[in-house]
Amino acid sequence: MSGQPVLMDQDGGGDDFLAAALLLTMDHVETIGIVVTPGDCYIEPAVSVTRKLLDLMDRPDIPVAKSTVRGLNPFPGAWRSLSFAVDHLPVLNDSDTIRTPLVPESGQAFMARVLREAPEPVTVLETGPLTTVAAALEIAPDIEGKIKEIVWMGGALNVPGNVAEPGHDGSAEWNVYWDPFAARRIWETSIPIVLCPLDITNRVPVTTELVRQLGRQRRYPLSDFAAHCYAMVVKESYFFWDVLTAAYVGRPDLFTLREWETVIVTEGPGQGRTRVEPGGRKIMAMDQVDIEAFYAYILEQWAR
Ligand code: RIB
Ligand code: CA
Repeated sequence: MSGQPVLMDQDGGGDDFLAAALLLTMDHVETIGIVVTPGDCYIEPAVSVTRKLLDLMDRPDIPVAKSTVRGLNPFPGAWRSLSFAVDHLPVLNDSDTIRTPLVPESGQAFMARVLREAPEPVTVLETGPLTTVAAALEIAPDIEGKIKEIVWMGGALNVPGNVAEPGHDGSAEWNVYWDPFAARRIWETSIPIVLCPLDITNRVPVTTELVRQLGRQRRYPLSDFAAHCYAMVVKESYFFWDVLTAAYVGRPDLFTLREWETVIVTEGPGQGRTRVEPGGRKIMAMDQVDIEAFYAYILEQWAR
């Protein structure tokens, strides 16, 4: 392989597409596929956006697969609807046809197969719930040894969560809450986990200034795409959740990590919480990031 193999699984949020758009700019990375999990999206437009984005980046050779898993706690409809709007952005719609194919097998079967066939361990970049990874492990338990590490946007360790649902205590982050049992399943493996929790993403907001800077360089298709995606959400509290997670794959030197022992809460009002608990599963979490260098990095990477 020509670079570090990375398999991405994303759940179709605006920032998921942009995380993919960042990953594909990384010279040292060989993206071996993109799976779309039906989490923070409606699946048809989310798959469509992913394929059109690969067309835009002239990478129709990268397979896209549609996961058929289901979560316990659906994302809010208003968040999921963004996938329809993004699918209609002008920069993605110069052509009536999509070159990048959708593989015929399910996303979880595709994941199991490509990991099994990979000649070396693969980094899994996960920007949605862990359900598809758990389903792939169910299909092919032997792939555990083929995953070098999972870099996951998920969890809230020492800050409140972002779930505001009736009966919930607010301690969970959405990617865990969508399917806490899948997260617990991954916690039971020995796969190294690098977490990008709300603790760090809360410090990296999508700012008006950054969106305007992207807009000013919209002669570049990726900046045009990013500026439009962010323009639709900048009025909300929106953070670089998935894009920050992807940036770790490209520029780990911008981050410091810290080890924590954690458990996944699967029941009760704290369902989906990632609780710090001595004796729990060891994970590494992104702890500090050079925020200005991160902003400069994405502006540079998307100037194409
Ligand atoms: O909690 C933020 C996460 O939920 C992000 O990955 C966003 O895209 C949604 O999936
Ligand atoms: Ca996501």
